[in-house]
Amino acid sequence: MPNSQNFAANLLEWFDNHGRHDLPWANPRTPYRVWISEVMLQQTQVATVIPYFERFVARFPDVRTLADANVDDVLQHWAGLGYYARGRNLHRAAGIICAEHGGEMPQDFAQVAALPGIGRSTAGAILALGSNQHFAILDGNVKRVLTRFHAIEGWPGEKVIENALWAHAERHTPMQRVTDYTQAIMDLGATLCTRSKPKCGECPLRMQCQALAFGRTRDFPQSRPKKIIPTRTTRMLILRNTQGEVLLAKRPPVGIWGGLWSLPECPIDVDTPSWARDVLRLNTSIVATLPSVRHTFSHFHLDITPVVCSVENPTLGVMEANDLVWYKSHSPNDYGLPAPVKRILNDIEPLKEYDTDGSHG
Ligand code: ADE
Ligand code: SF4
Repeated sequence: MPNSQNFAANLLEWFDNHGRHDLPWANPRTPYRVWISEVMLQQTQVATVIPYFERFVARFPDVRTLADANVDDVLQHWAGLGYYARGRNLHRAAGIICAEHGGEMPQDFAQVAALPGIGRSTAGAILALGSNQHFAILDGNVKRVLTRFHAIEGWPGEKVIENALWAHAERHTPMQRVTDYTQAIMDLGATLCTRSKPKCGECPLRMQCQALAFGRTRDFPQSRPKKIIPTRTTRMLILRNTQGEVLLAKRPPVGIWGGLWSLPECPIDVDTPSWARDVLRLNTSIVATLPSVRHTFSHFHLDITPVVCSVENPTLGVMEANDLVWYKSHSPNDYGLPAPVKRILNDIEPLKEYDTDGSHG
């Protein structure tokens, strides 16, 4: 097991020479500014955050100003960062800090972590960066560094893996210089130990990094395991009349694509013209069977084989049915078709001239 003393010492030495020392939330570094920046940085890149951070703290320089502001004013200063719940939570938390903590960010971990929008890692960052308290962080950057350094197999979102990572993160966090160490490990993840092509040659941890030693930096962190889901098959019939129109069928109100217009579907193992005659009362002949298209739902894959057919008796009572319609396929947005159906209809565009008289637009 690599020595944690070395881990922090090597990282701190690198940070002194190569870390990011000019970030606006570090100049000056106050618990309030650290809090605002950490929440902004939860889902947004540093380069994007910087101008938002500067505008935000210019308008709301302290907890009380933020708490007293109108929430719409706060959200206006958030506009463009996305994930607006974060902005609302900041405003709510400011109110709580004023009501319960005298207008100062509390210094007790449990009290910080109890504020809206602050999880374990953000609470640790606020206390480590803002007050040099001995708490670990485990954001995406740190997870990447630690899974590589320790060659930790498994998806870091899984509870046991996450617990192991927290234990490593706590063990590596030094007693001295916690603020610098915390900024350093985030900077390492953001600048050297990047998602793709980490710059291991410049890394202060390279002598003990397990992933590098095994030549497996690309294997960590492992991604979320793919769910194993069943595959269903269907045929979608592209039934074309002599005007080049395509028959759409309304789906039943419940189930997938409930109530949407779609292509008529027939089972994969029946004779298509017989099915069309029996169910739709149409005489058809198959023009082409196209390569199948996969559409994945949360619980199954649907493999769709599109079959292009020409219809020989196109007006046979079909117009009356209110769950069938002849559709001009060059106005594909009018019916709110399911995505794979739209894709299939777009893909057969070149076939348009194939089985019609070519007189349509
Ligand atoms: N990401 C999250 N917190 C950060 C910080 N303090 N500096 C740079 N990137 C970060
Ligand atoms: Fe990341 Fe490479 Fe450093 Fe290991 S040696 S921690 S993989 S940058």
